[in-house]
Order: sequence, then structure tokens, then C-alpha cells
Amino acid sequence: MTTRNYFTRKSIEDIIASGEGEHVKMTRSLGPISLTALGVGGIIGTGIFVLTGTAAAHNAGPAVMISFALAGVACAFVALCYAELAALIPVAGSTYTYTYATLGEIFAWIIGWDLILEYGMGAATVAVGWSGYLANVMRSVGLPLPPQFAAAYFAEPIKLADGGTIEGVFNVPAAAIILVLTALLVRGTRESSLFNNVIVAFKVFVVIAVIVFGAAHVEAANWVPLVPENTGEFGHFGWSGVMRGASVVFFAYIGFDAVSTAAQEARLPQRDVPIGILGSLVICTILYVAVAAVVTGVVSYTKLGVPDPIAVAIDATGLTWLALAVKLGALAGLTTAMLVLLYGQTRVFFTMALDGLLPPVFSRLHHSWRTPAISQTFVGVLGALTAGLFPIRELAEMVNIGTLAAFALVCGAVLYLRRYSPELYRPFRAPGIPVMPILGILSCLALMAALPGPTWIRLFVWMAIGLAFYFIYGNMRGRPAGRIASGE
Ligand code: ALA
Repeated sequence: MTTRNYFTRKSIEDIIASGEGEHVKMTRSLGPISLTALGVGGIIGTGIFVLTGTAAAHNAGPAVMISFALAGVACAFVALCYAELAALIPVAGSTYTYTYATLGEIFAWIIGWDLILEYGMGAATVAVGWSGYLANVMRSVGLPLPPQFAAAYFAEPIKLADGGTIEGVFNVPAAAIILVLTALLVRGTRESSLFNNVIVAFKVFVVIAVIVFGAAHVEAANWVPLVPENTGEFGHFGWSGVMRGASVVFFAYIGFDAVSTAAQEARLPQRDVPIGILGSLVICTILYVAVAAVVTGVVSYTKLGVPDPIAVAIDATGLTWLALAVKLGALAGLTTAMLVLLYGQTRVFFTMALDGLLPPVFSRLHHSWRTPAISQTFVGVLGALTAGLFPIRELAEMVNIGTLAAFALVCGAVLYLRRYSPELYRPFRAPGIPVMPILGILSCLALMAALPGPTWIRLFVWMAIGLAFYFIYGNMRGRPAGRIASGE
């Protein structure tokens, strides 16, 4: 009888070599600009267009700009670690692959399962934000959506204008947009990357326009007090509210790591992937702090707890052309964010299936499009159901807790490899070892600690389901195929 070694690790040399194997070859079509655009495309989305308002109105007040800065600093530590690992191990699968090479198979599984929260559930979260802006646009052209079919089944009842309430049934627009984008991704990366570049330019233009034109309408009185007094409950204003706000708007930064999942499709991954990751993070942090400052300066933070807070702030300036551009920019921007997340999810599944941790169907490529078509469809259908059924805040908190756990492990993997494999050639070396990754781990843990208790319970339940699958599937198929397990 063979014993299974849950701590089997892959050797880095083998992982890198396997990235060149015919069986995993995807088209190498992405350069540094496309990769940075892919990062920005994934980063700017529901976080800035929706959660800025949620966090300002319920947690941080005008200090949501500090929340953005705190979350950005945490992400900067993680991004430096990501860049080192992405340059060292330039294959698809991101955190999952890095963990396999350092902590071993069972941790790799845990991370892979965790990443479903970041990518799959992340796409669903963005879809719900998209649906909120669509409802606004449809209302303004006199074609309002029936509210029960634009709200989640598990959401709070919706308040109607006449004072009554109505229960949500299914968020149809949120589910529909995921299915449409899935069809696009099934058809091919090259087309969707071109589409992405055009829309990212529009989205960045809109965000800059909000900053530049909104700044003239800021009333400094709206920023006073910067940190509203705590209500007596942890996370509701005061400095604990600023921290809770940071753990909510952290969602706005998710996506920079998706660049590393595209490593197999990068032309020069070792140079371009670090450029893509760090470049996109720096651009977005600057934009976010500025947008948060403008929006809370233009209107009182108490008015921002709505599905379309940036539109509300710009409407208050009277700049109607900009209000329209913001809504269209949000719709387009959220679309590209979803594309990146849906895309990233299947690339993680792809690598996990090659390793025998998921059924082989997840690594099958379509014969002429060279995309993982079946896996992409599976992700799209589950994502659509999630987007239709759950409300945005719960989704975002769940995505954040899972992603922060994965990010902490990435920092740990950098420390581990520096210590135990110092000889490896690192095209990009993160600065400040070991202090910087340790600060990265601590800041991820601090943000996780600021999330509410029910989110923690959901994380444990999710992890328990994942481990059950791991052991049951592993036993059904016997010893893991371990395409490149070392020490066997
Ligand atoms: N960062 C992405 C967003 O905010 C996921 O939508």
C-alpha cells in the first residue's frame, strides 16, 4: 500500500521547466503594457465605485481615505513578495504554485480552495456592483428594472419609494453579465485582452475626471471631523472603524496578483510580470486615495451608503456630463474587473488539475481556441448563481478574508525560499528581507482581525468543505499524480 505524503513539495526547477512543456502551452501574447492594463483592469472596480461609499457611511466617515491608504500599504508589501515569486516561478497558478513549492501539497490545496473566494466569488461581488450602476442608468432613461429581479435573494428587503418593502428574488443583471463575459473568455484570450485595454483606458479617464473636476467642488467642512466618533461598537467609526473600513475597501486592490496568473501567456514573464504587478498597484493606490478624498469632500459621508456613491457625489456637483461618464465608466470598468477575475480563476484550476488535485477536465484546452473552455463555463455558471443570490457586503467580506489569508502565505513563501533556497536565481529581488514580508503578514492579519465574526465562521465552514473534498477526491483517485513532485 502506498502512503500519501501530504507535504510533498514540487521542485522549483521542475515547475519552471514544466511551464515550457507542450501540454501546458498557451499563446504567449501579453507584453508589459497589456499586463499592467490587465492589472489595472482587475483592480479598479466595485471597490472604488461602490465600497468607498459603504465603508464611508458605515465604518470610517471621511477617514475612508486613510482606510484606502492602510489597505494600499498592506498590498504594497504583498505585491513586492508576489513580484519576487512571479519572476522566480513564471507559470500560471500564482499563490497556489508558490505554496506548492514551499509548504507542500496540502497547503497548496488550502490556498487553491481559498483562491476560489478571491477569483470566483470576487467576480460575483463585482457583478453585484455592476448591477447597481445598471439599475441607476436604467432609472435615468425612464426604464427602471423591477427591483425584486435586481436584488439578491439573501439581501435585506428593499425599501420602495411609497414606504413599503419588497423581497429580492434574484439579481438577474448580475448573473447575466457574468454569463456574457464567460462566453467572451471561452472564445479566446487575445480578443478579450484587446477589449480590456480599450475599456481600462476609459475607466482610468473617468476616475481621473472625478478627481480633477470634483476637486473644485470639495467643501472642507465635509471632512470635519475626519474620524467620526465611535458609536460604542467595534468597527462603527472611530479608529476601529477606520480599520474595518480598510478591511472592506481592501477589495478595491484585489486583482494586482491576477497578473501573475497570466505568467504563462506573458512574452517575457520574468521582466514583465513584476512591472505589471507593481505598476498597476501604484497607479491604483494614488487614484483611490484621491477619489475617496474628493467624494467625501463633495457630499457628507452619511449620504454615501448607496449602490452608486460616486454617481451620487458627482450628481451633487451639477456636472451632468461627468455624472453620465461616471456611470458608463463604472459599467465598463466593472466589466473588465470581472474579466480578469473570471480569467484568473480558470488559470488556477488549470494548474491544480495538472497536479492531480482537481479532475483532469479542468486542464483541458479547447482544440482551436486554446482556452480552458469547459472550466471557464463551469466557473461562469457558479459565479452567476452566486451573484444572483447574495448581497454585496457579505460577498466582499468573504472574498477579503480568503484573499488576505492567501496573501499572508505568499509573504511566508518568500521568507521560506530565501532561507532554504537562497541559491535560486531571482530576476526580481524584493527589498527589505526579512522585515518587509513579516510586515506584510502582520498587516494581512490585522485586516483580517478587523472583519466581523460571521465572516470568520463562514471562512472556517468553507475551509472544512475544501478539506473534505481534498481527502475524499484524493482517496478516490489514489496517490496524487504529482506531475512534478520532488523527493518521490
Ligand atoms: N479590485 C476589484 C474591484 O474593486 C476586484 O472590483
